Amino acid sequence: MAHLDYSPDSNMLFVGEGNFSYSMSICITLGSGANMTVTSYDTTKDLREKYPDAWANIRLLTDSGATVLHGVDARKMSEHPSLRDLILCFFSLASCSKHRELVCGFFLNAVPMLSPEGQCHVTHKRKPPFNQWHIPKLASECGLGLTDCADFNIEDYPGYDNKRGDGERADKRFPLGKCCKYKFVKEFGVDALCSKVSLFST
Ligand SMILES: C[S@@+](CC[C@H](N)C(=O)[O-])C[C@H]1O[C@@H](n2cnc3c(N)ncnc32)[C@H](O)[C@@H]1O
Repeated sequence: MAHLDYSPDSNMLFVGEGNFSYSMSICITLGSGANMTVTSYDTTKDLREKYPDAWANIRLLTDSGATVLHGVDARKMSEHPSLRDLILCFFSLASCSKHRELVCGFFLNAVPMLSPEGQCHVTHKRKPPFNQWHIPKLASECGLGLTDCADFNIEDYPGYDNKRGDGERADKRFPLGKCCKYKFVKEFGVDALCSKVSLFST
């Protein structure tokens, strides 16, 4: 069962929500959102224009104790650092033609935010051209090692309604096809490297 991946005790960060149905599904299964921070790149204005059901999902999340933030860019999220056991990014990297910049920006920001045993999960399509983005290779270049690549089945997430997120059809679903959930952990020594980089950049 997919939600064995998640525990109400893990400090989770969701990146790139659409209508907030993915985090809502996990929140209902866990029975609490107390340790969940759920973010969208969209602003509240964008959300209002795109997704009529986003507010009901957000309401459920906040009533369950989750923190919900908008206008959060995966490429800059470590500007507001807070250690996380799990950082979840699901189909949020599929919307952008400049995928390399987005994927690397996300990974580079995830590394300093992960707790020592923390994991970063990225859900992604398996078919071309998406499987040619070489997500595990990019992760490795950013200091994250692949520990697992599990099948992703939407049936495991009741209520999750995947969204295109962009353009006139933002509120429509996109075809999922075969998908997987990559699980990454910090590679040995990456923390030392991060602190060196921050010493040089101050
Ligand atoms: C294909 S939609 C998927 C939406 C949602 N994750 C889902 O599965 O229904 C892609 C999402 O990526 C988000 N996104 C695009 N650029 C982003 C960035 N730089 N940081 C965070 N999210 C981003 C968009 O706002 C959009 O919601």
